[in-house]
Amino acid sequence: MKKYPTIRPRRNRLDDWGRRLTAENTLTTNDLILPLFLIDGKKKKEKIHSMPDVFRFSLDELLLQIEKIVSSKIPAIALFPNVENSLKDATGSEALNPNGIIPKAILAIKKEFPKLGVMTDIALDPYTSHGQDGLINQSGYVLNDETVEILKRQALLHAEMGVDIVAPSDMMDGRIGVIRDALENNAHSLTRIMAYSAKYASNFYSPFRDAVGTTENLSSFDKKNYQMNFANSEEALLEAELDINEGADMIMVKPGLPYLDIIQKIKTKFKMPTFAYQVSGEYSMIKAASSNKYLDEKKVVMETLISFKRAGCDGILSYFSLSVANWINKQEVQ
Ligand code: PBG
Repeated sequence: MKKYPTIRPRRNRLDDWGRRLTAENTLTTNDLILPLFLIDGKKKKEKIHSMPDVFRFSLDELLLQIEKIVSSKIPAIALFPNVENSLKDATGSEALNPNGIIPKAILAIKKEFPKLGVMTDIALDPYTSHGQDGLINQSGYVLNDETVEILKRQALLHAEMGVDIVAPSDMMDGRIGVIRDALENNAHSLTRIMAYSAKYASNFYSPFRDAVGTTENLSSFDKKNYQMNFANSEEALLEAELDINEGADMIMVKPGLPYLDIIQKIKTKFKMPTFAYQVSGEYSMIKAASSNKYLDEKKVVMETLISFKRAGCDGILSYFSLSVANWINKQEVQ
Protein backbone atom coordinates (compact mmCIF):
# COMPACT_ATOMS: atom_id res chain seq x y z
CA MET A 1 0.00 0.00 0.00
CA LYS A 2 1.14 3.50 -0.76
CA LYS A 3 2.13 5.62 2.17
CA TYR A 4 2.17 9.22 3.30
CA PRO A 5 2.54 11.68 1.68
CA THR A 6 1.04 9.96 -1.41
CA ILE A 7 -1.94 8.90 0.67
CA ARG A 8 -3.59 11.57 2.77
CA PRO A 9 -6.98 10.27 4.00
CA ARG A 10 -7.76 13.78 5.24
CA ARG A 11 -8.19 14.97 1.62
CA ASN A 12 -11.61 13.31 1.52
CA ARG A 13 -12.62 15.01 4.74
CA LEU A 14 -11.73 18.51 3.51
CA ASP A 15 -15.19 19.90 2.79
CA ASP A 16 -18.84 19.18 3.35
CA TRP A 17 -19.54 17.98 -0.21
CA GLY A 18 -16.53 15.70 -0.10
CA ARG A 19 -17.57 14.19 3.19
CA ARG A 20 -21.10 13.65 1.90
CA LEU A 21 -19.78 12.06 -1.27
CA THR A 22 -17.59 9.58 0.60
CA ALA A 23 -20.04 8.75 3.42
CA GLU A 24 -20.40 4.98 3.74
CA ASN A 25 -23.71 5.06 5.58
CA THR A 26 -26.75 7.30 5.65
CA LEU A 27 -29.93 7.43 7.65
CA THR A 28 -33.27 8.06 5.97
CA THR A 29 -36.83 8.18 7.25
CA ASN A 30 -37.21 4.66 5.78
CA ASP A 31 -34.97 3.31 8.54
CA LEU A 32 -37.24 4.31 11.41
CA ILE A 33 -39.85 2.57 13.55
CA LEU A 34 -41.57 4.57 16.30
CA PRO A 35 -42.69 2.78 19.49
CA LEU A 36 -45.93 4.23 20.94
CA PHE A 37 -47.65 3.76 24.30
CA LEU A 38 -51.41 3.40 24.55
CA ILE A 39 -53.92 3.77 27.38
CA ASP A 40 -57.64 3.23 27.55
CA GLY A 41 -60.03 6.17 27.58
CA LYS A 42 -60.54 9.34 25.58
CA LYS A 43 -58.62 12.58 25.06
CA LYS A 44 -55.70 11.39 27.13
CA LYS A 45 -52.09 12.35 26.66
CA GLU A 46 -50.19 11.37 29.79
CA LYS A 47 -46.60 12.33 30.51
CA ILE A 48 -44.13 9.60 31.41
CA HIS A 49 -41.92 10.87 34.20
CA SER A 50 -38.75 9.01 33.20
CA MET A 51 -39.18 9.62 29.45
CA PRO A 52 -39.47 13.37 28.79
CA ASP A 53 -41.51 14.20 25.63
CA VAL A 54 -42.89 10.66 25.35
CA PHE A 55 -46.59 10.19 26.15
CA ARG A 56 -49.23 7.55 26.71
CA PHE A 57 -52.03 8.28 24.26
CA SER A 58 -55.65 7.20 24.27
CA LEU A 59 -56.67 5.82 20.87
CA ASP A 60 -58.36 9.05 19.65
CA GLU A 61 -55.25 11.07 20.48
CA LEU A 62 -53.01 8.39 19.02
CA LEU A 63 -54.81 8.58 15.67
CA LEU A 64 -54.09 12.33 15.55
CA GLN A 65 -50.46 11.62 16.34
CA ILE A 66 -50.31 8.96 13.62
CA GLU A 67 -51.31 11.51 11.00
CA LYS A 68 -48.05 13.33 11.77
CA ILE A 69 -46.12 10.07 11.75
CA VAL A 70 -47.48 9.08 8.35
CA SER A 71 -46.73 12.47 6.81
CA SER A 72 -43.20 12.30 8.22
CA LYS A 73 -42.72 9.16 6.06
CA ILE A 74 -41.91 6.83 8.95
CA PRO A 75 -42.76 3.35 7.55
CA ALA A 76 -43.94 1.64 10.75
CA ILE A 77 -44.97 1.99 14.37
CA ALA A 78 -44.75 -0.43 17.32
CA LEU A 79 -47.61 -0.46 19.85
CA PHE A 80 -47.33 -1.06 23.61
CA PRO A 81 -50.26 -0.96 26.06
CA ASN A 82 -50.47 0.41 29.56
CA VAL A 83 -53.17 -1.76 31.10
CA GLU A 84 -55.18 -0.79 34.17
CA ASN A 85 -54.12 -2.74 37.26
CA SER A 86 -57.67 -4.04 37.83
CA LEU A 87 -57.47 -5.89 34.49
CA LYS A 88 -54.23 -7.70 35.33
CA ASP A 89 -54.17 -11.27 36.62
CA ALA A 90 -51.69 -14.10 37.09
CA THR A 91 -52.17 -15.47 33.55
CA GLY A 92 -52.41 -12.14 31.73
CA SER A 93 -55.86 -13.04 30.39
CA GLU A 94 -56.53 -9.48 29.22
CA ALA A 95 -53.93 -10.12 26.48
CA LEU A 96 -56.52 -12.32 24.77
CA ASN A 97 -59.44 -9.89 25.04
CA PRO A 98 -60.53 -9.03 21.48
CA ASN A 99 -61.81 -5.71 22.83
CA GLY A 100 -58.56 -4.94 24.63
CA ILE A 101 -56.52 -1.78 23.98
CA ILE A 102 -54.19 -3.30 21.38
CA PRO A 103 -56.69 -5.28 19.23
CA LYS A 104 -58.97 -2.20 19.08
CA ALA A 105 -56.04 0.02 18.17
CA ILE A 106 -54.84 -2.29 15.38
CA LEU A 107 -58.31 -2.28 13.80
CA ALA A 108 -58.70 1.48 14.00
CA ILE A 109 -55.19 2.31 12.79
CA LYS A 110 -55.24 -0.12 9.84
CA LYS A 111 -58.67 1.23 8.83
CA GLU A 112 -57.59 4.86 8.87
CA PHE A 113 -53.98 4.41 7.77
CA PRO A 114 -53.85 1.19 5.70
CA LYS A 115 -50.42 2.00 4.28
CA LEU A 116 -48.68 2.39 7.65
CA GLY A 117 -46.87 -0.69 8.94
CA VAL A 118 -48.22 -1.70 12.34
CA MET A 119 -46.25 -3.92 14.68
CA THR A 120 -47.30 -5.25 18.09
CA ASP A 121 -45.45 -6.73 21.01
CA ILE A 122 -46.22 -10.37 21.73
CA ALA A 123 -45.58 -10.82 25.46
CA LEU A 124 -47.67 -10.92 28.61
CA ASP A 125 -45.88 -8.46 30.89
CA PRO A 126 -48.28 -5.53 30.51
CA TYR A 127 -51.15 -7.88 31.41
CA THR A 128 -49.82 -10.00 34.31
CA SER A 129 -50.26 -9.04 37.98
CA HIS A 130 -46.63 -10.06 38.62
CA GLY A 131 -45.20 -8.19 35.62
CA GLN A 132 -43.38 -11.21 34.18
CA ASP A 133 -43.62 -11.93 30.44
CA GLY A 134 -45.30 -15.31 31.00
CA LEU A 135 -47.00 -17.70 33.39
CA ILE A 136 -45.14 -18.46 36.61
CA ASN A 137 -45.09 -21.49 38.92
CA GLN A 138 -45.10 -21.36 42.74
CA SER A 139 -41.42 -20.55 42.91
CA GLY A 140 -41.81 -17.70 40.44
CA TYR A 141 -40.16 -19.51 37.52
CA VAL A 142 -41.54 -18.39 34.16
CA LEU A 143 -43.01 -21.46 32.45
CA ASN A 144 -41.95 -21.82 28.84
CA ASP A 145 -44.34 -24.07 26.93
CA GLU A 146 -47.47 -22.94 28.79
CA THR A 147 -46.55 -19.32 28.04
CA VAL A 148 -45.90 -20.05 24.36
CA GLU A 149 -49.47 -21.41 24.00
CA ILE A 150 -50.87 -18.07 25.17
CA LEU A 151 -48.44 -16.07 23.02
CA LYS A 152 -49.66 -18.07 20.02
CA ARG A 153 -53.24 -17.01 20.73
CA GLN A 154 -52.19 -13.40 21.31
CA ALA A 155 -50.36 -13.35 17.97
CA LEU A 156 -53.35 -14.88 16.17
CA LEU A 157 -55.69 -12.32 17.71
CA HIS A 158 -53.47 -9.47 16.52
CA ALA A 159 -53.20 -11.05 13.06
CA GLU A 160 -56.99 -11.31 12.87
CA MET A 161 -57.24 -7.60 13.66
CA GLY A 162 -54.92 -6.91 10.74
CA VAL A 163 -51.51 -6.33 12.29
CA ASP A 164 -48.60 -6.43 9.81
CA ILE A 165 -45.81 -7.58 12.11
CA VAL A 166 -45.97 -9.50 15.37
CA ALA A 167 -42.89 -9.10 17.53
CA PRO A 168 -42.47 -11.73 20.25
CA SER A 169 -40.36 -10.00 22.91
CA ASP A 170 -40.46 -12.54 25.72
CA MET A 171 -37.47 -14.79 24.92
CA MET A 172 -39.37 -18.07 25.49
CA ASP A 173 -37.85 -21.01 23.62
CA GLY A 174 -39.64 -22.23 20.50
CA ARG A 175 -42.15 -19.36 20.33
CA ILE A 176 -41.33 -18.30 16.78
CA GLY A 177 -42.00 -21.78 15.39
CA VAL A 178 -45.29 -22.15 17.23
CA ILE A 179 -46.48 -18.68 16.17
CA ARG A 180 -45.37 -19.23 12.56
CA ASP A 181 -47.29 -22.52 12.38
CA ALA A 182 -50.39 -20.96 13.86
CA LEU A 183 -50.27 -18.07 11.38
CA GLU A 184 -49.75 -20.46 8.45
CA ASN A 185 -52.61 -22.69 9.55
CA ASN A 186 -55.04 -19.82 10.05
CA ALA A 187 -54.78 -17.97 6.75
CA HIS A 188 -52.24 -15.43 7.99
CA SER A 189 -49.22 -16.65 6.09
CA LEU A 190 -48.27 -13.08 5.15
CA THR A 191 -48.16 -11.76 8.70
CA ARG A 192 -44.53 -11.00 9.42
CA ILE A 193 -42.61 -11.95 12.54
CA MET A 194 -39.90 -9.70 13.89
CA ALA A 195 -38.14 -11.82 16.48
CA TYR A 196 -36.58 -10.17 19.49
CA SER A 197 -33.85 -12.78 19.02
CA ALA A 198 -31.16 -11.31 21.18
CA LYS A 199 -32.94 -9.57 24.00
CA TYR A 200 -30.72 -9.04 26.99
CA ALA A 201 -31.68 -8.90 30.67
CA SER A 202 -30.78 -5.23 30.58
CA ASN A 203 -30.93 -2.47 33.14
CA PHE A 204 -31.81 -0.01 30.40
CA TYR A 205 -35.51 -0.98 30.34
CA SER A 206 -36.62 0.76 33.53
CA PRO A 207 -38.21 3.86 31.95
CA PHE A 208 -40.24 1.54 29.65
CA ARG A 209 -41.52 -0.38 32.68
CA ASP A 210 -42.60 2.96 34.09
CA ALA A 211 -44.36 3.72 30.77
CA VAL A 212 -46.29 0.45 30.57
CA GLY A 213 -46.85 0.32 34.32
CA THR A 214 -45.03 -2.87 35.25
CA THR A 215 -42.39 -1.43 37.58
CA GLU A 216 -44.28 -2.01 40.84
CA ASN A 217 -45.69 -5.38 39.87
CA LEU A 218 -42.22 -6.58 38.97
CA SER A 219 -40.63 -4.95 42.07
CA SER A 220 -38.18 -7.50 43.47
CA PHE A 221 -38.12 -9.82 40.43
CA ASP A 222 -35.88 -9.75 37.41
CA LYS A 223 -36.06 -11.44 34.00
CA LYS A 224 -32.69 -13.19 34.04
CA ASN A 225 -34.07 -16.72 33.68
CA TYR A 226 -35.38 -15.91 30.20
CA GLN A 227 -33.69 -12.77 28.85
CA MET A 228 -30.03 -13.15 27.86
CA ASN A 229 -26.97 -12.65 30.02
CA PHE A 230 -25.24 -9.48 28.83
CA ALA A 231 -21.87 -11.21 29.14
CA ASN A 232 -22.72 -13.41 26.13
CA SER A 233 -22.47 -13.00 22.38
CA GLU A 234 -22.12 -16.51 20.88
CA GLU A 235 -25.46 -17.31 22.47
CA ALA A 236 -27.04 -14.45 20.50
CA LEU A 237 -26.03 -16.23 17.29
CA LEU A 238 -27.69 -19.42 18.50
CA GLU A 239 -30.88 -17.51 19.38
CA ALA A 240 -30.95 -15.79 15.98
CA GLU A 241 -30.32 -19.06 14.13
CA LEU A 242 -33.13 -20.81 15.98
CA ASP A 243 -35.55 -17.96 15.26
CA ILE A 244 -34.62 -17.86 11.57
CA ASN A 245 -35.08 -21.63 11.27
CA GLU A 246 -38.43 -21.37 13.02
CA GLY A 247 -39.69 -18.80 10.51
CA ALA A 248 -38.73 -15.29 11.64
CA ASP A 249 -38.73 -12.66 8.86
CA MET A 250 -36.69 -10.07 10.72
CA ILE A 251 -34.28 -10.19 13.61
CA MET A 252 -33.95 -7.67 16.40
CA VAL A 253 -31.24 -6.94 18.92
CA LYS A 254 -32.11 -5.12 22.11
CA PRO A 255 -30.91 -2.83 23.70
CA GLY A 256 -29.07 -0.96 20.96
CA LEU A 257 -25.91 1.00 21.49
CA PRO A 258 -24.22 -1.26 24.09
CA TYR A 259 -24.82 -4.20 21.72
CA LEU A 260 -23.46 -3.00 18.36
CA ASP A 261 -21.09 -5.99 18.34
CA ILE A 262 -24.08 -8.34 18.46
CA ILE A 263 -25.84 -6.53 15.62
CA GLN A 264 -22.76 -6.76 13.45
CA LYS A 265 -22.24 -10.46 14.16
CA ILE A 266 -25.86 -11.35 13.43
CA LYS A 267 -26.02 -9.28 10.24
CA THR A 268 -22.72 -10.67 8.96
CA LYS A 269 -23.63 -14.27 9.68
CA PHE A 270 -27.28 -14.47 8.63
CA LYS A 271 -27.75 -11.56 6.19
CA MET A 272 -31.34 -11.18 7.36
CA PRO A 273 -33.23 -7.91 7.78
CA THR A 274 -31.78 -6.84 11.12
CA PHE A 275 -33.04 -4.23 13.55
CA ALA A 276 -31.93 -2.58 16.76
CA TYR A 277 -34.12 -1.27 19.54
CA GLN A 278 -32.71 1.92 20.99
CA VAL A 279 -34.49 1.32 24.28
CA SER A 280 -36.07 3.61 26.84
CA GLY A 281 -32.97 3.92 29.02
CA GLU A 282 -30.87 4.95 26.03
CA TYR A 283 -33.51 7.54 25.17
CA SER A 284 -33.69 8.89 28.71
CA MET A 285 -29.91 9.14 29.07
CA ILE A 286 -29.66 11.33 25.98
CA LYS A 287 -32.68 13.41 27.07
CA ALA A 288 -31.26 13.95 30.55
CA ALA A 289 -27.83 14.91 29.30
CA SER A 290 -29.15 17.23 26.63
CA SER A 291 -31.65 18.95 28.91
CA ASN A 292 -28.66 19.78 31.11
CA LYS A 293 -26.85 21.01 27.99
CA TYR A 294 -24.09 18.46 28.53
CA LEU A 295 -24.79 17.08 25.05
CA ASP A 296 -26.39 18.38 21.84
CA GLU A 297 -29.50 16.21 21.47
CA LYS A 298 -29.85 16.38 17.70
CA LYS A 299 -26.19 15.66 16.98
CA VAL A 300 -25.90 12.87 19.51
CA VAL A 301 -29.11 11.18 18.35
CA MET A 302 -27.96 11.26 14.73
CA GLU A 303 -24.58 9.82 15.71
CA THR A 304 -26.21 6.93 17.58
CA LEU A 305 -28.60 6.13 14.72
CA ILE A 306 -25.88 6.21 12.06
CA SER A 307 -23.85 3.90 14.31
CA PHE A 308 -26.66 1.36 14.08
CA LYS A 309 -26.55 1.61 10.29
CA ARG A 310 -22.77 1.21 10.31
CA ALA A 311 -23.11 -1.91 12.48
CA GLY A 312 -25.42 -3.40 9.84
CA CYS A 313 -28.96 -2.48 10.86
CA ASP A 314 -31.66 -2.21 8.24
CA GLY A 315 -33.79 -0.21 10.64
CA ILE A 316 -34.04 1.08 14.18
CA LEU A 317 -36.81 1.30 16.74
CA SER A 318 -36.29 4.59 18.51
CA TYR A 319 -38.38 6.94 20.64
CA PHE A 320 -36.60 9.72 18.73
CA SER A 321 -38.00 8.51 15.38
CA LEU A 322 -40.55 11.29 14.85
CA SER A 323 -38.09 14.05 15.79
CA VAL A 324 -35.45 12.49 13.56
CA ALA A 325 -37.83 12.16 10.61
CA ASN A 326 -38.74 15.82 11.00
CA TRP A 327 -35.07 16.86 11.13
CA ILE A 328 -34.36 14.81 8.01
CA ASN A 329 -37.39 16.18 6.14
CA LYS A 330 -36.49 19.76 6.99
CA GLN A 331 -32.91 19.06 6.00
CA GLU A 332 -31.69 20.10 9.42
CA VAL A 333 -29.43 17.06 9.49
CA GLN A 334 -27.63 15.08 6.82
C1 PBG B 1 -41.42 -6.54 27.47
C2 PBG B 1 -40.71 -5.44 26.74
C3 PBG B 1 -39.77 -4.63 27.33
C4 PBG B 1 -39.38 -3.71 26.36
C5 PBG B 1 -40.09 -4.00 25.19
N1 PBG B 1 -40.90 -5.10 25.44
C6 PBG B 1 -39.26 -4.55 28.72
C7 PBG B 1 -38.87 -5.75 29.44
O1 PBG B 1 -38.43 -6.73 28.87
O2 PBG B 1 -39.01 -5.69 30.66
C8 PBG B 1 -38.37 -2.62 26.61
C9 PBG B 1 -38.36 -1.47 25.71
C10 PBG B 1 -37.64 -0.28 26.21
O3 PBG B 1 -36.96 -0.28 27.26
O4 PBG B 1 -37.73 0.74 25.51
N2 PBG B 1 -41.95 -7.56 26.79
